[in-house]
Amino acid sequence: MQSVRIHAFGGPEVLKLETEPTPEPKPGEILVRVHAASVNPVDYKIRNGGYVAEDRLPLTLGRDFSGVVERCGAGVEPFKPGDEVYALLPPDRGGYAEFVAAKAQDCAGKPKSLDHLHAAAVPLAALTAWQGIFDNGSLSSRQRILIHGAAGGVGHFAVQFAKANGATVYATCSGNDIDFVRSLGADEAIDYKSQRFENTVPDVDVVYDLVGGETQERSWSVLKEGGIIVSTLQQPSKEKAAERKARGTHYMTKPDGDQLAEIGRLIDAGAIRVEVGKVFQLRQAADAERALEKGHVRGKIVLEVT
Ligand SMILES: NC(=O)c1ccc[n+]([C@@H]2O[C@H](COP(=O)([O-])OP(=O)(O)OC[C@H]3O[C@@H](n4cnc5c(N)ncnc54)[C@H](OP(=O)(O)O)[C@@H]3O)[C@@H](O)[C@H]2O)c1
Repeated sequence: MQSVRIHAFGGPEVLKLETEPTPEPKPGEILVRVHAASVNPVDYKIRNGGYVAEDRLPLTLGRDFSGVVERCGAGVEPFKPGDEVYALLPPDRGGYAEFVAAKAQDCAGKPKSLDHLHAAAVPLAALTAWQGIFDNGSLSSRQRILIHGAAGGVGHFAVQFAKANGATVYATCSGNDIDFVRSLGADEAIDYKSQRFENTVPDVDVVYDLVGGETQERSWSVLKEGGIIVSTLQQPSKEKAAERKARGTHYMTKPDGDQLAEIGRLIDAGAIRVEVGKVFQLRQAADAERALEKGHVRGKIVLEVT
């Protein structure tokens, strides 16, 4: 099968389209013919080095996919060949490939209302948003949330999940994305380059931080007593949390087939839409990563595989 791998850390030029053996599904795994895989910041962060140890090279990049079950390993009850599935993969295998052996428990049926290109855009980004605002942030209806980075892969799901759950949503994004973020349901969208969110956002119960750094630091000033900053990027300051009588947490997203099935039901019910900003072919993985790293992509970048 063809896959895109790295043998060394570095710029996009280290991504190589190669031929390697098709994996065999172990017990509890399914072999999936990948139709599309999405591109996430973690892919270029791994590629740039510092995220995984050098002894894990060569490595196939890509953390999520949508495809069709080709063959099942032993003990895989819910799936059979021909089923359309999507999943977030653990870091030891990659989706930039024609086939991947995925753990059945990590997979869910692909939302019927989506084609593979849109379905592949869901797993990592949507699970991150779900686990961030519900599992870590415990966001409930009638609460207020501020979402930083609302027009990107994770943010565009977070805005919709929060809104569908009955929260009031404040969101920061680039000026070009204001209308897009409002169309996702944000009650107020703030251009982070021309406005300081502290000037307009009232105290919130949850800050969902997809940006980090100074943006996270400044967010303490709009957090209610008892509130929480949930970050995908860095552990919020314990001193600031104590000063504000609030909390801060950093988390890593985990594969979860059940949550993905729940997200799929919301998508098929028309409650959540999936924005694919750009599509590249598998052989153009380097261009796709360049585009994501450069910024200003609305929603997700996806690779068409087969
Ligand atoms: N811990 C985990 O398990 C985990 C999981 C998923 C993602 N992440 C991390 O979370 C971050 C977001 O992921 P993603 O997939 O959503 O990335 P993305 O698709 O690249 O989106 C990032 C968004 O943030 C916007 N942005 C940049 N600077 C901003 C600022 N100062 N204020 C407000 N918005 C700003 C960008 O807009 P412009 O480009 O227009 O400026 C872009 O729309 C990444 O760093 C990723 O590595 C971590």
